[in-house]
Amino acid sequence: MRIAIPKEILPGEKRVAATPHTVLKLRKLGFEVAVQAGAGLNTDLSDSAYQEAGATIVEDVGRLWSESGVILKVRPPLTGGVQGVDETQLLSPGSLLISFVWPAQHRELLDKLAARRVTALAMDCVPRISRAQKMDALSAMANIAGYRSVIEAAQYYPRFFTGQMTAAGKVDPAKVLVIGAGVAGLAAIGAARALGAIVRAFDPRAATRDQVKSMGAEYLELSVHEEGEGKGGYAKEMSDAFLKAEMALFAQQAMEVDVIITTALIPGKPAPKLITAGMVESMKPGSVIVDLAAEQGGNCAMTRSGEVVTHKGVTVVGYTDLPSRVASLSSQLYGATVASLLEEVWKDGAIRIDESDPVVRGAMVTHDGRVTWPPPPLPNPSPAPPPEPGVAVHSGKAETAAAHGGASAGSASAFWIWVVAAVLAGAGIAVAAPPSFVSHFTVFVLACFVGWQVIWNVKPALHTPLMSVTNAISGIILIGGMLQLSGSNAAAILGAIAVLIATINVAGGFLVTQRMLAMFRRNS
Ligand code: NAI
Repeated sequence: MRIAIPKEILPGEKRVAATPHTVLKLRKLGFEVAVQAGAGLNTDLSDSAYQEAGATIVEDVGRLWSESGVILKVRPPLTGGVQGVDETQLLSPGSLLISFVWPAQHRELLDKLAARRVTALAMDCVPRISRAQKMDALSAMANIAGYRSVIEAAQYYPRFFTGQMTAAGKVDPAKVLVIGAGVAGLAAIGAARALGAIVRAFDPRAATRDQVKSMGAEYLELSVHEEGEGKGGYAKEMSDAFLKAEMALFAQQAMEVDVIITTALIPGKPAPKLITAGMVESMKPGSVIVDLAAEQGGNCAMTRSGEVVTHKGVTVVGYTDLPSRVASLSSQLYGATVASLLEEVWKDGAIRIDESDPVVRGAMVTHDGRVTWPPPPLPNPSPAPPPEPGVAVHSGKAETAAAHGGASAGSASAFWIWVVAAVLAGAGIAVAAPPSFVSHFTVFVLACFVGWQVIWNVKPALHTPLMSVTNAISGIILIGGMLQLSGSNAAAILGAIAVLIATINVAGGFLVTQRMLAMFRRNS
């Protein structure tokens, strides 16, 4: 099957959906790859580099699209608005398209793709779950945008970021405030720290406190306490009282800091307005604000999407194409995420769409002549938050508890049946089994209960660190197993198995912990 890599024709877009490096990977999967002539020239990738990786260079755009079963793109296909080009008409019926789609903003595009019976997988709709991390193009791009926002700020800021002691006098380091410590915010903190600035950051999600501190920045505290984490580890919309309190904090910070980088966003909502015109005016002349949320309306009242404006000596940068300004790296990382998603649907030499796969279903926006967006909600891996008194939450809708009275009574009685059965079993063991077994059994039951409580009550975002730490703790099993090695035959064999499995667990735990720490550590 042939994959087409067209040139991005949206003005200003420099990225390309595959680099020679990802072409190699696609060919390894068994695809032929055709690249439009000049597709990578904006990222310094020549046609000959693609040819060396085994791709065919095609001049005729119409043939490139119509003779390929899979089209990989960065931007959503154009529908006629820009330069009158309608890329959807180039797609052959039944083909697979993988690109950013932003379905909420492009309803007309969805209808056109469905009409052409194209299966479209939107990179911006890949669910942010652990298994889909390698397909998470949004995070890959946000990471680059966060880094680049600091570089843009440094370019407009008329002083050093780092502090210096020179013969001519002392230069103070720049003070940078980062609002929102998601993917882009953390990358911005890392880049600003690397340039030597003093960095402060704020995010309503409590889980970000340690991440901010581990990157060497100061976490700003607020007197109003409200958890900003919603379902599945994502941010939720904050109350008016919280927004008021954080804006008072930002007003005070605006007078002190030299650079503000704002990244605050709740998925699917307009960006909260956090920096008012008054705050901008209170900043020192020469200060810079980089508003990453510019495309969603901006966090700053003075932001103009896609533009750089100066207001009373303060530069406000509203670029919406930050990843494209680091086009070579963005193309490489984007291409890798696209190839990983393609791998999910490429089974036994054919494209197979498995709608029961949550990653594929989440990303799929059109299929078989239908618009399939929005996808059904993902099953929540954590228990739902406790419902308000008198209200039970079911399938995303609030229903009265009375309607579910039978079900809750049923689960309560099942719980008590389990408790009675456990007490009877425990009493039986206490009477019939030898005392040494009873003490071991008690420890085993307690360990099961504590382990279950610990894992069940932890937020999904913390599952990976928890796993690595609990693995490391399983060293205790290793010691127990070693003590049994000198025992009878059966005990020694069981001890040896315990030692083997616990060693794998311990080593794996340290390895994963080490990898996670490396993500937050700066290279010295
Ligand atoms: P994210 O969802 O990982 O992070 C957003 C953060 O904002 C979250 O940590 C959330 O807790 C925080 N937040 C929400 N409400 C807040 C409030 N009231 N006050 C303070 N913090 C608040 O998103 P990600 O991926 O880091 O992207 C951040 C922004 O960057 C988004 O607006 C995204 O669209 C934008 N972006 C911009 C690009 C550009 O070229 N300008 C390129 C890529 C991303």
